[in-house]
Amino acid sequence: MNILSVHDVRKSFGNLHAIDGVSLNVAAGKISILIGPNGSGKTTLINVIGGFYKPYSGIVVFRDKDITGFPPFKLYKLGLGRTFQIPALFWHLTVLENLLVAEKNNPGESFLRSILGTWKNRETESMEKASRILELLGLSKIWDQSVYNLSGGQMKLVEIGRALMSDATLLLLDEPVSGVNPTLAHEIFSRILSLRDRFGLTFFIVEHRLDIALRYVDEIFVMAYGKLIASGVPDEVMNNKKVIEAYLGGEYLGG
Ligand SMILES: Nc1ncnc2c1ncn2[C@@H]1O[C@H](COP(=O)(O)OP(=O)(O)OP(=O)(O)O)[C@@H](O)[C@H]1O
Ligand SMILES: [Mg+2]
Repeated sequence: MNILSVHDVRKSFGNLHAIDGVSLNVAAGKISILIGPNGSGKTTLINVIGGFYKPYSGIVVFRDKDITGFPPFKLYKLGLGRTFQIPALFWHLTVLENLLVAEKNNPGESFLRSILGTWKNRETESMEKASRILELLGLSKIWDQSVYNLSGGQMKLVEIGRALMSDATLLLLDEPVSGVNPTLAHEIFSRILSLRDRFGLTFFIVEHRLDIALRYVDEIFVMAYGKLIASGVPDEVMNNKKVIEAYLGGEYLGG
């Protein structure tokens, strides 16, 4: 079953066709990554899916609903969360506050309601939900630190935590391990994997670091010059000639 479908989406900046007719399906409960050389249109595609840009044409369908052009707050309420290539946190707030603010700004249905059982007042519930998410992400010990004191990898985890506060079923992550040391990068992907396994969440992830990401992913999509040039399981895609050529002789591949 597909949780997300993109049909013939186009988005230009002036004369530049940043996305030039892309169609793809993201399978529910899988970890899919989107790769491609710099400037190939990956972030622009995430921005179209996430409602930051309206496509010039094409359709985006999330859980059988046409969401083309929906603003981000509406998508957040529908359970489509995202993180940014450059973390967008509230720098003067703590880790916990960053999660609570995310929900306060975007009230949605609680995905922990079923786990927590009976009705509780909203603030207690939000606090419990945030604590549980911090635990799932290994951030419990630093809950009261200001986010500007954190390492780059921890900031990426807080961003994922903020997206989870939306009770997201689909998470769009833009380069969740860029600039993060290999140990923490593997930890981030392991946590993504366990969120997928425990809660059935779907991840659509832009990531350059195939040396880290490859072992965790179910499916790969490859973009070049605004077009989708390949998709499929990792083995298939990594041996695809077009993909190797797009990466200038494969300097990113296999690494
Ligand atoms: N807001 C914008 N205004 C004008 N041009 C833009 C804008 N955003 C992106 N572009 C251009 O669109 C193309 C695709 O950019 P995009 O950021 O989507 O690439 P990317 O695949 O995410 O690259 P990277 O790997 O460097 O993050 C690039 O040529 C970029 O310069
Ligand atoms: Mg990008």
